[in-house]
Amino acid sequence: MIEKITVVGAGNVGATAAQRIAEKALARTVVLVDVIEGVPQGKALDQWESAPIEGFDTHVVGANDYIPAAGSEIVVVTAGIARKPGMSRDDLVRTNADIVKQVSQQIKQHCPKAIVLVVSNPLDVMCWVTKQVTGFPRERVIGMAGVLDTARYRAFLAEALDVSVEDIQAMVLGGHGDTMVPLISYTTVSGIPVTQLLDKPALDKIVERTRNGGAEIVTFLKTGSAYYAPSAAVTEMAEAIVRDKKRILPCAAWVQGEYGISGVYLGVPCKLGRGGLERILEVKLSGDEQAALNKSAAAVQETMAAVSLKP
Ligand code: APR
Repeated sequence: MIEKITVVGAGNVGATAAQRIAEKALARTVVLVDVIEGVPQGKALDQWESAPIEGFDTHVVGANDYIPAAGSEIVVVTAGIARKPGMSRDDLVRTNADIVKQVSQQIKQHCPKAIVLVVSNPLDVMCWVTKQVTGFPRERVIGMAGVLDTARYRAFLAEALDVSVEDIQAMVLGGHGDTMVPLISYTTVSGIPVTQLLDKPALDKIVERTRNGGAEIVTFLKTGSAYYAPSAAVTEMAEAIVRDKKRILPCAAWVQGEYGISGVYLGVPCKLGRGGLERILEVKLSGDEQAALNKSAAAVQETMAAVSLKP
């Protein structure tokens, strides 16, 4: 257990993440911060009142400023807006970049030693904004995308094979979006290559469904997007850090030559421990997988170009 984890954004993803973090007792205090008056306070109080039933001693508090967040060892960033009708992708990027910029300035001032886990979309670009504005090293600004994409992929595989989700080992790399790269060659069912258990058309269908995982949920919900699996994913990353587990998880990390790519956030296999991002693992990729990763990086760089970091 650490002293303090702050979750910025008390919307669907943020509030659910705060509750999951508290239920796992990852920190003595969880601070929920949002710009809307009353919402973080009300949700935090409601969660804290569940503590005697769920049996956790983590105190959950809400605030509209960062004073209670001071000194947090981990900050989860979920602040942002969803794309509204008529809004272009670039408009969304610029709006969320402004929000994440403002949040990052507060993190830099009040939580200078924090490890920041970014969830706000478009993920890879928001990670870059956070890193630039806080000035934190890459070890302390990590994005949540691959854990979620991999969870979706594993859930669909488990369903197709009628086996436990626990027995599916897999990794989805690349960007968070259309350019994600599920590594079929590294997908196993308790060590058995998945290609021995499912034929190519079945696997292709699952890969396609994984790519559209976020959109599938939005189509059902109509307003709002996924939050149960995203909050579970960022909680798993926080747990790996708090408990210094040295987990190998696919996360968005700032690559500096790994996989032959530099100067961009990209989903790669990462070792997470108390130091944050402790190592990026470089695995052998097929020609097609490397080409897909290069394409992912180019797409992220293109979106980065739409954002100005000037104050
Ligand atoms: N500081 C703090 N909170 C903010 C700020 C800000 N500057 N600007 C907006 N927020 C808050 C909103 O008030 C809202 O409560 O961020 C919250 C976002 O919550 P939701 O709209 O419910 O969105 P959610 O589904 O939680 O998704 C949040 O995570 O997965 C991503 O794509 C998703 O970028 C989105 C983010």
